[in-house]
Amino acid sequence: MKMYYEKDTDVNLIKQKKVAIFGYGSQGHAHALNLKDSGVKEVVVALREGSSSIKKAESQGLKVMSLSDAAAWADVVMILTPDELQAEIYKNHVEQRMREGTSLAFAHGLNIHYKLIESRKDLDVFMVAPKGPGHLVRSEYQKGGGVPCLMAVHKDSSGKARDLAMSYAACIGGGKSGIIETNFKDECETDLFGEQAVLCGGLVELIKNGFETLTEAGYPPEMAYFEVLHEVKLIVDLIYEGGIANMNYSISNTAEYGEYVSGKKVVDSKSKEKMKEILKDIQSGKFTKDWMEECKGGQKNFLKMRADLAKHPIEEVGKKLRDMMPWIGKNKLVDQSKN
Ligand SMILES: NC(=O)c1ccc[n+]([C@@H]2O[C@H](COP(=O)([O-])OP(=O)(O)OC[C@H]3O[C@@H](n4cnc5c(N)ncnc54)[C@H](OP(=O)(O)O)[C@@H]3O)[C@@H](O)[C@H]2O)c1
Ligand SMILES: [Mg+2]
Repeated sequence: MKMYYEKDTDVNLIKQKKVAIFGYGSQGHAHALNLKDSGVKEVVVALREGSSSIKKAESQGLKVMSLSDAAAWADVVMILTPDELQAEIYKNHVEQRMREGTSLAFAHGLNIHYKLIESRKDLDVFMVAPKGPGHLVRSEYQKGGGVPCLMAVHKDSSGKARDLAMSYAACIGGGKSGIIETNFKDECETDLFGEQAVLCGGLVELIKNGFETLTEAGYPPEMAYFEVLHEVKLIVDLIYEGGIANMNYSISNTAEYGEYVSGKKVVDSKSKEKMKEILKDIQSGKFTKDWMEECKGGQKNFLKMRADLAKHPIEEVGKKLRDMMPWIGKNKLVDQSKN
């Protein structure tokens, strides 16, 4: 697979465009600030009336517009509001207002791939999807690096969509760590699978079940927390910088032997079968259909599951222990008062 870097792109293309970033959440703040710092002079954040993010964006030196005004003003509209609201925002504020021949962009393929948005014919439609949480898209950029990005073109009415998408990807930091060209379908399906089976779903259940196993056996919750949550980061850092063997080099031989013989008992062939089922539901569109129905019903189950997790003993003991480690909070990636 071919990787593209800054040198393979024309970084100036996006700098000459008027870019409207819809939303100032996890991805929104990162795209807006990285583009501005990369030299895009006309970046505007588009927010709904009365949004609590207006202050946050303005305090970072960004101009704010209403959703409709920004859609009419921009050469590039990047939609970075929650996936489940994008179709409505597109219909109510964007579709009728974007100027002819401008570009509609996304950081995830869900709305286009599952046809929740059918974009206007004359528009270019592309995607620049950072492979990391928005707060890291910003913090890695500030360190002089960047988060790798997937780039895809869904519709190229102008014949220039690909070059502009590459330029955008480079200017939010993807040009430092690598840009992969793909399509909306593959980005969308692999992204949903990754977050459900491994990164968020799989990992959180692994941590919770490990914590419960230890505490139910009578071990103190504080010990269990350090063992199965706090240390995840320390281990993942080693995998991140040098792969699995790099982590195995640092841990003891006892830990490494345990990894080989016990890991497979926890995540076994049945787990892999489950992963395949998850992937099938993503590919068939069932997952997205269910999620959109959940949203139409006011997200009742979703909000209940969020509330239940907040009450889990691992979150309670974790808060207490992290308060004793102030250096962790000092360098926090997520500061909800700012982004
Ligand atoms: N989160 C990630 O790290 C990540 C990674 C890769 C791709 N993506 C993709 O990036 C996109 C954005 O995700 P996100 O997690 O960054 O979103 P998010 O943080 O949940 O977005 C929040 C922003 O959207 C605004 N918003 C919410 N409802 C709105 C409405 N009805 N009208 C107008 N604005 C509204 C919020 O405005 P207020 O301030 O007014 O509440 C806020 O500024 C999604 O397509 C997602 O799949 C996300
Ligand atoms: Mg995702």
